[in-house]
Amino acid sequence: MSEVKKDKKPILLSGIQPSGHLALGNYVGAMRNWVNLQQDYLGIFMVVDMHAITVRQKPAHLRNRCLSFAAQYLAAGIDPSKNVIFMQSHVPQHAELAWVLNCYTYMGELNRMTQFKDKSKRHEDNINAGLYAYPALMAADILLYQTDLVPVGADQKQHLELTRDIANRFNNTYSPTFKVPEPFIPKAGARIMSLQEPDKKMSKSDANENNYISLLDPPDVLRRKIKRAVTDSAREITPESPNSSGIGNLITIYSVLNDTSVDAVAQQFAGQQYSNFKGELADSLVAFLEPFQDRYNKVIGEKGYLTGILDEGANRARYMATKTLSKVYRKIGFVPAGRS
Ligand code: TYM
Repeated sequence: MSEVKKDKKPILLSGIQPSGHLALGNYVGAMRNWVNLQQDYLGIFMVVDMHAITVRQKPAHLRNRCLSFAAQYLAAGIDPSKNVIFMQSHVPQHAELAWVLNCYTYMGELNRMTQFKDKSKRHEDNINAGLYAYPALMAADILLYQTDLVPVGADQKQHLELTRDIANRFNNTYSPTFKVPEPFIPKAGARIMSLQEPDKKMSKSDANENNYISLLDPPDVLRRKIKRAVTDSAREITPESPNSSGIGNLITIYSVLNDTSVDAVAQQFAGQQYSNFKGELADSLVAFLEPFQDRYNKVIGEKGYLTGILDEGANRARYMATKTLSKVYRKIGFVPAGRS
């Protein structure tokens, strides 16, 4: 009975590519909101391994990273008894719907995607068709589950808009089939910037590890990275500091970790040296990440527990996804299988 009620909740869905190291930007822009919103939604949280192979991955690293990311979802506070957590590749309906949606996505639309343009520049030797068609797979991830809300950072806004366009196009061509999802992009922390190059976003797969905070960085590394973070030539925090890219980014991180506003932080530290503020920020980070890492170490040490959650998640996801995919196949005119 309670199971039925649970499934009536609106659907919250999101995913992260298992590349590099889960970073503070991913937590602040996305995962934190998954945790905060999970009470009111049925959460569907994926490790999107099929997206990750659009860039070459070492198989053994990818395998470990997928499990590590799932364990970090749990460590962040996603409740596995109330949400659906799984590996994208365990649910073949993602690839199946992606193929269909490829046929409803225009090359002109894909040509405009900034993530494709960025990644093509960074991986000039491997501009593959998967990288190009990636947004149709992302649309499939979302539309398969009749998703209401998609919590992501600002860099995913364009993909979300395309997902909505594809859904509307399909619905208008046939009849209402997909729920048209809404993005949830946080007001604060939607774009956490790199520590050394604060004009570009913090990326979990940055070649320079001083550019990002890994959620698994030990305290001494966290302190060192914050200490070395690039700021401007001023020395003291002022009410204008939130507008300056480097120090403003650190103020944003502090404000999110301490559940306050950037202006309140600028006021609290007004007149204080940057070095002093950085020390306080490092303390906040350590205080947040130490218990996170303790929880992570427990989960990652119990492989059976983790794979059990992922198996159960994939079972539930397949059940939900099949319903939408069958509807889609029927509408486009495919002959139903297994009727003999
Ligand atoms: P990915 O793996 O690049 O990033 C995962 C999530 O973290 C957010 N994010 C950030 N937020 C704030 N500041 C940053 N510096 C920062 N860097 C990353 C991203 O916006 C994202 O929410 N295409 C997606 C993965 C995906 C997906 C989905 C997401 C595949 N299917 C379906 C939602 C729903 C991606 O590459 O995210």
